[in-house]
Amino acid sequence: MKQKILVTAALPYANGSIHLGHLVEYCQTDMYVRALKQLGEDALFICADDAHGTPIELNAKKQGITPESLVTHYHEEHIRDFARFDVAFDHFSLTHNDSNRAIVNEVYQRLIKAGQIEEREIDGNFCEHDARFLPDRFLRGTCPRCKSADQYGDVCEKCGATYTTTEIIDPKCSLCGNTPVIRKSSHLFFKLSSAENIAFLRSFITSGALQPDIAAFVKNWIDGGEGLRDWCITRDGPYFGFPVPGKPDKFFYVWLDAPLGYVASSAEWAEKHGLSLESLWQSPNTRIEHVIGKDIIYFHTLFWPAVLKHAKMTIPSRVHVHGMLTINGEKMSKSRGTFINAAPFADVVDAQALRFYYACKASNDASDLDLSFDDFVQRINSELVNKHVNLFSRATRFLQSRLGNQLGELPSTDDVQALMYKTVALGRQIETHYRNRELSHVMRLLGDIADIGNEYMQSHAPWDQMKTDPEAARLTCTFAVNICHALAMYLSPVVPRLATAMASCINADISRMDAGLLFALKNRPIGEITRLFDRIEKEVFDTLIASTASAPVQETELPEPDLDRISIDTFGQVKLRVGHVLQAEPVPKSNKLLKLMIDLGEKQPRQILAGIAQHYTPDLIRGRKVVVVANLHPAKLMGLESQGMVLAVNTAGKLIVVDPGQDALPGTEVR
Ligand code: 2FM
Ligand code: ZN
Repeated sequence: MKQKILVTAALPYANGSIHLGHLVEYCQTDMYVRALKQLGEDALFICADDAHGTPIELNAKKQGITPESLVTHYHEEHIRDFARFDVAFDHFSLTHNDSNRAIVNEVYQRLIKAGQIEEREIDGNFCEHDARFLPDRFLRGTCPRCKSADQYGDVCEKCGATYTTTEIIDPKCSLCGNTPVIRKSSHLFFKLSSAENIAFLRSFITSGALQPDIAAFVKNWIDGGEGLRDWCITRDGPYFGFPVPGKPDKFFYVWLDAPLGYVASSAEWAEKHGLSLESLWQSPNTRIEHVIGKDIIYFHTLFWPAVLKHAKMTIPSRVHVHGMLTINGEKMSKSRGTFINAAPFADVVDAQALRFYYACKASNDASDLDLSFDDFVQRINSELVNKHVNLFSRATRFLQSRLGNQLGELPSTDDVQALMYKTVALGRQIETHYRNRELSHVMRLLGDIADIGNEYMQSHAPWDQMKTDPEAARLTCTFAVNICHALAMYLSPVVPRLATAMASCINADISRMDAGLLFALKNRPIGEITRLFDRIEKEVFDTLIASTASAPVQETELPEPDLDRISIDTFGQVKLRVGHVLQAEPVPKSNKLLKLMIDLGEKQPRQILAGIAQHYTPDLIRGRKVVVVANLHPAKLMGLESQGMVLAVNTAGKLIVVDPGQDALPGTEVR
């Protein structure tokens, strides 16, 4: 029986939109799984939205909605965004559902039975004002080691020290600023630090499941410093999660039920396909591969394999760690406008271009991937368009316009034979690179195949051959079309829509990836030639950045690491004024923007573009009083100048313009 390869990508939190950083993982993993399938492997791509935890509970509360409706909103949005980027999960679930609840309860019982759970009373920081225990990230204070102020409850960003939440000096609740009190609470611990578990984890990290540098890193967690601690798997209410059976007001910690979401999502897929869950997660016949970012290594290489072992489930064969995305060499940043979400990106750039770029830049280690706008435009235009797509148009142009759409024989010369061998050899190497998820090597060799076609076209010049010997031109173009078949076959995991369009133009089958199937297109008609892909203009990024930087205020994401306090003076630099919307009209070709003329009590009304068109008709906003950021640098959106920004609240995807009241006078300062 053929081995199954069950591949997962980390579960995104259903607490915000998918952004370009997330897409590094989902696009690259999607390419890998598509390639495995085309290579004939029995591969599965499983994922889900991660629904639980304090930030989601608080975010919902702040927006006045239930956590269920918050996560459902983002779950639906994520499904739409993934589809736009051709990320094709076999199953994409949500961890807040009955199948995950059942699996969590089952695994909990198995862990108890295996003697791995212990109940202990511990001290926690309790905020009496907010009536809740504060998780590490909701506690700020002074680092007990280097004495830097305003550090998280568990780790100092200045000196890197880790400590317990009761060790931090002068702790404050990051929700309300009050000093919490120490309160005792009973919690369940998974005995991660037992000698048995440590011995198992040592063997896991040397099993070949991890990249060598990651294995060294993880080994250091076990051997260095304080070693491993037991792992607290419960949280006190209020919490959005699964209740612990028999323990009132205790919930399973999100990091227990999230990875079990891999299992639950697989179970849902299995049920749809008439298979048992055991055949996926309790069978030597299935190989489990996780793809994760480097921020969640601890959970996937220590807790998770140990939990799986005691739950008698399959230990991952591979935990593949990738680096983070930087944009123009820096971390994504809201203020620089480089915190770019998936949907606005796909509104202005063909999503396949991002997949192509991410494939070119993929590395097999955990180094970061930089998306530089100049490099992006250059690569798409010079490689995807000039090398691949243009070869395709040149190869098919004469066949279509002057040679009756009919392929001829392949040239029988020795040099063509040699080029065919070379292409097949490159194809075989590409297949191996796909299996090893070495996408940047795939892309380099694909460039070599395109070069074979382009150089052949250049040296045989069918445009000249046409004048004296049209049949010679037919042979030249037939060879080039066969090279295009190879390109379509090997590009298809990366840019599936483009590859399918290429293949259908030349009547080629690319459902299987196999170099042995190449050079079979001859003496037959080609299909209809369509326009495949357009060059990208650098200006699209200006538009994107301007719209990201001046997008209406999003809901506050809690708690963002950059919740640094600002002084009243800094706040005073932002000039907020009451505005009166005098005119409102749609912006041609934009389904998001409205063009507003707003009276701010100045000599002239200002032209301001607001991204609210999907939520307000011009009639609805005209005549309203609004709050405007009046001292922003003007920005250009869709070629129009915007001289300020209208404040709006995003409540579960619905924008509500901030209303200062109809009596407020235009120009009045908002403080
Ligand atoms: O870090 C995160 O975004 C988590 N939501 C990843 C969970 S992956 C898995 F373990 F569930
Ligand atoms: Zn508080």
